[in-house]
Amino acid sequence: MKTKELMQKKLPLGLTFSFPCKQTKLEEGILLSWTKKFKARGVQGTDVVSSLTNAMKRHQDLDVDILALVNDTVGTMMTCAYDDPYCEVGVIIGTGTNACYMEDMSNIDLVEGDEGRMCVNTEWGAFGDDGALEDIRTEFDRELDLGSLNPGKQLFEKMISGLYLGELVRLILLKMAKAGLLFGGEKSSALHIKGKIETRHVAAMERYKEGLANTREILTDLGLEPSDADCIAVQHVCTIVSFRSANLCAAALAAILTRLRENKKLVRLRTTVGVDGTLYKIHPQYPKRLHKVVRKLVPNCDVRFLLSESGSTKGAAMVTAVASRLQAQRKQIDKVLALFRLTQEQLVGIRNKMRVEFEYGLKKDTHPLATVKMLPTYVCGMPDGTEKGKFLALDLGGTNFRVLLVKIRSGRRSVRMYNKIFAIPLEIMQGTGEELFDHIVQCIADFLDYMGLKGAQLPLGFTFSFPCRQASIDKGTLIEWTKGFKATDCEGEDVVDMLREAIKRRNEFDLDIVAVVNDTVGTMMTCGYEDSNCEVGLIAGTGSNMCYMEEMRNIELVEGDEGKMCINTEWGGFGDNGCLDDIHTQYDKEVDEGSLNPGKQRYEKMTSGMYLGEIVRQILIDLTKQGLLFRGQISERLRTRGIFETKFLSQIESDRLALLQVRRILQQLGLDSTCEDSIVVKEVCGAVSRRAAQLYGAGLAAIVEKRREDQGLEHMRITVGVDGTLYKLHPHFSQILRETVKELAPQCDVMFMLSEDGSGKGAALITAVAKRLQQAQRDH
Ligand code: BG6
Ligand code: GLC
Ligand code: GLC
Repeated sequence: MKTKELMQKKLPLGLTFSFPCKQTKLEEGILLSWTKKFKARGVQGTDVVSSLTNAMKRHQDLDVDILALVNDTVGTMMTCAYDDPYCEVGVIIGTGTNACYMEDMSNIDLVEGDEGRMCVNTEWGAFGDDGALEDIRTEFDRELDLGSLNPGKQLFEKMISGLYLGELVRLILLKMAKAGLLFGGEKSSALHIKGKIETRHVAAMERYKEGLANTREILTDLGLEPSDADCIAVQHVCTIVSFRSANLCAAALAAILTRLRENKKLVRLRTTVGVDGTLYKIHPQYPKRLHKVVRKLVPNCDVRFLLSESGSTKGAAMVTAVASRLQAQRKQIDKVLALFRLTQEQLVGIRNKMRVEFEYGLKKDTHPLATVKMLPTYVCGMPDGTEKGKFLALDLGGTNFRVLLVKIRSGRRSVRMYNKIFAIPLEIMQGTGEELFDHIVQCIADFLDYMGLKGAQLPLGFTFSFPCRQASIDKGTLIEWTKGFKATDCEGEDVVDMLREAIKRRNEFDLDIVAVVNDTVGTMMTCGYEDSNCEVGLIAGTGSNMCYMEEMRNIELVEGDEGKMCINTEWGGFGDNGCLDDIHTQYDKEVDEGSLNPGKQRYEKMTSGMYLGEIVRQILIDLTKQGLLFRGQISERLRTRGIFETKFLSQIESDRLALLQVRRILQQLGLDSTCEDSIVVKEVCGAVSRRAAQLYGAGLAAIVEKRREDQGLEHMRITVGVDGTLYKLHPHFSQILRETVKELAPQCDVMFMLSEDGSGKGAALITAVAKRLQQAQRDH
């Protein structure tokens, strides 16, 4: 670093570490055991990357980030693959021997995921350590092993690699000399010394033409006086030993090539093997022999052998370069996702602000300006079980528009329902009010027809899931449209009147519209019918809203102090005064601006099903613009509003899905994604839906805490009736919601009860109660 004047630069580092390591990631390697000539204490079983990092920390002027640890075989493969894309095997025949190759992920049980390939370092040097090679190991192999640093280990390597070849030759020569077969029975003390013959000697002795002369020189240097016949014999020993080495290597390599061919289900495989190592490089005959034998053993492979000219470090640097790019990308992605992470402190703040808004909405003075409207619903009690009869119900404003027939039997708390789902075309949702209500009445007519109830005069409960100002149970003035509706001439009008007029226009049947209720209220009633402790209704669906039972004395807008009334909070408007700006991201802003009601329903737009997918889409567009996704290409599809419906978000985040399936969902959505893309998309979905669930939790904590304090309770148990596709379909939403409420309202025991029957049932129950009360008044 000093000589290259790199001291002040922060550099990523790739480490070629040519020993068997267990890796759970690229930048980690637990040394399994030393091989070859290394035996430093205290390293086996530890992570060599952190050891090097720690050692570097002791040099304060070094600023280096280790991004990758690779075996020399891997570095070699990468070096060669840079020049030849067919290269998918790396072989080292040097001091040690080893190979790596690209294996299908689906075959690697040790690593999760099934897609693509990963390089596997075989560590074939240890082949035979279980006894598998005993039939071919000789007395010389055994003797060499016993004298090595690691007896019983790396037995295949010891028959092949450079560290051992010369020694094998020496042991053979020693035995021959002892038996009087060489050097005229003369002994040489040098021949007794371990390591006296090295691979470079073997290579020199086998050299074409000069080989014999070299042999003589080498033997003479060992203090011997070889005859011509001795030189020829010694040369022959060298050839036998090095040829066996090449043969064994070829056999092992043939096994890898066969596997590659079978993995790819090919009749013929065309591939390249990157090779490095001193033995392969300096031995004059070795490469030729190896190539020939490999081609003989796998005749159905066209193999190119490519010598790695620049060693394995170039490859290591390339792996590092890729890792460095990924790391930089990771940082950018994390930066975006961090915007969606809410701290405990922030959540507490949100809970407290919501609480303030509740009070504002309830007080006469502040109500007109309140963003959380706290609308009285004139629903004052739960059904008592005496209700009975047949009712019609409408359920408008969620994912589905339904018309229902609800039969309530008294006493047994049992209800029978028949319903039909109708579509509301976009042009009607956003057409004129008259068209909308005519369409609704058309659907009612179809339903009555379908049920064989033509002409029946039934009481009707209208679940209308938009903010309405009510002066009684059967009057509701639409304050403003939310979600996907925008029909003209409705805002400021009584929706019950509009429905009545549409029925009149049709002039086919008459209905007694008894109640108009919000979906939260309908949901609370549906659940309240089974659990009288249910005093909160929650919707986590297309929209986001909550209602609860409030003490009459706290509701300044309605006369009277006795008993309770249900308040439709319309908490979707929370934040419209800017109080959530600190957590509002640029993506939220974009979603808001692209919506039908810019600047309105801020909280709803951060939490509900209609918008979560849009937030995800905005983030994906941004990440793509930054070149972090979809190869930087923003497709037409990605520009299309509404592609990430709640059901897709839910599927993508399901833990049971393999990456491949996530990718398939994205492909179904028209987003051609790689595996890496799919991981990122899943993370984005997770961050967005997690924030939504936490925000819900903060809001809910505010209401249960308020109720607890209002009642002066140390501890409170309460049931929340819940409905909505987000809550029902999403794999983690309900869990995170529950956890957040627990943390933010620790003194409340909150039970969640899923409304199985929708809010139409609740609307019918409310209608039944209202009907009973009407009757009672008339009887008076
Ligand atoms: C349904 C209720 O089950 O859930 C509707 O019957 C309610 O009244 C709806 O509006 C909310 O969920 P979503 O996901 O359909 O908007
Ligand atoms: C030894 C090491 C292995 C390395 C090979 C070649 O076999 O265990 O990791 O690849 O030598 O250097
Ligand atoms: C929107 C509506 C609200 C409804 C909620 C859930 O927020 O304004 O009335 O309850 O969506 O459907």
